[in-house]
Amino acid sequence: MAGEVLLAAEGLSVGYGRRVVQHDLNFAIRRGEVFVVMGGSGTGKSTLLRHLIGLQAPLAGRVLLDGEDFWARPAQARAVLQQRFGVLYQDGALWSGMTLRENISLPLAAYHPQLTGDELAELAALKLALVGLAGCDLLYPAQLSGGMRKRAGLARALALDPEILFFDEPSAGLDPLNAQALDELILQLRDGLGTTIVLVTHELPSIRAVADTCLFLDAASRTQIALGPLHQLQGEDAHPTVRRFLRRGLGSKEK
Ligand SMILES: Nc1ncnc2c1ncn2[C@@H]1O[C@H](COP(=O)(O)OP(=O)(O)OP(=O)(O)O)[C@@H](O)[C@H]1O
Ligand SMILES: [Mg+2]
Repeated sequence: MAGEVLLAAEGLSVGYGRRVVQHDLNFAIRRGEVFVVMGGSGTGKSTLLRHLIGLQAPLAGRVLLDGEDFWARPAQARAVLQQRFGVLYQDGALWSGMTLRENISLPLAAYHPQLTGDELAELAALKLALVGLAGCDLLYPAQLSGGMRKRAGLARALALDPEILFFDEPSAGLDPLNAQALDELILQLRDGLGTTIVLVTHELPSIRAVADTCLFLDAASRTQIALGPLHQLQGEDAHPTVRRFLRRGLGSKEK
C-alpha cells in the first residue's frame, strides 16, 4: 500500500536555540501512509512538526525529502518544496479579519496568480464542502464554533491539494461524530488521492482507525522509544511507557 520513502529524519535533534527538546530521531514516512506522532504533553510533537515542515532548522541531523537534505537547499528552493505541504496547526490559525472564502483563497491566489476571483471562490467553496462547511464561505472565524474553526483550518490546509498533510491534534475539541468524520476524511485523502499524512494525536479511536505507522516521543529520555504499527506498540515487547500510555485511553490529555 504505502510507497517509497517521502520524508525522513536522520539523527534529528529538534528544539529552540540551545534547548534540545528531542534528539536522535530516526524514522521514515512513506508515500501514501498515515504516520502518527504520539507522546505526552510537552514532549515536542508540535516542535517536531515545525522542523518537518521546514519552519525550523535541525539542531543536529537531517530532514530528508525525497532522499535529499531539505536544509542543504537554498531558501528559495525550500519555499518551492514547501508548496507540497499542507498544514493544520494545533490552534487552527485562521486569519480573523477574513471570511472563510478569503482564508482559503489567499494561499491559492499566492501560488496560482492566474486564477480569477470567481474561480478562487469556487475552489474555496469546494474545499469547504469537503469538510462539511458548505455555504459558510462568507462567515468570519469568530462566527464559528471551535469544531467548525478546526474544519475551516483543514479546508485551508487542503487548498493547494498538498502531497503531504500535517495535522497537529486535528480532533481536539471535536465531538465524537465530527472526530469520526475527520478520520474518514483522512482515509479518503490517503486512499483516494494518495496523500501522505503526518498526524499528531492522542485519540486512540483515531489512531486505531487511521494509523499505518506510529512514532512515540518520550518525555524522560527526550527521544523516540517506539516506531512501528500500532499493534507493535501495544505488544509485549513494547516499551512499558508506551504500553501504559496506550492503555490509559489517551482520550484525556495529561498536563
Ligand atoms: N517557541 C518556543 N521557544 C522555546 N521553547 C518552546 C517554544 N515552543 C515550545 N517550546 C517548548 O518545547 C517543548 C515542547 O513543546 P511542544 O509544543 O513541541 O510540545 P507538544 O508535544 O506539542 O505538547 P502538546 O501535546 O501540549 O501540544 C516544551 O517544553 C515547550 O515549552
Ligand atoms: Mg503540540
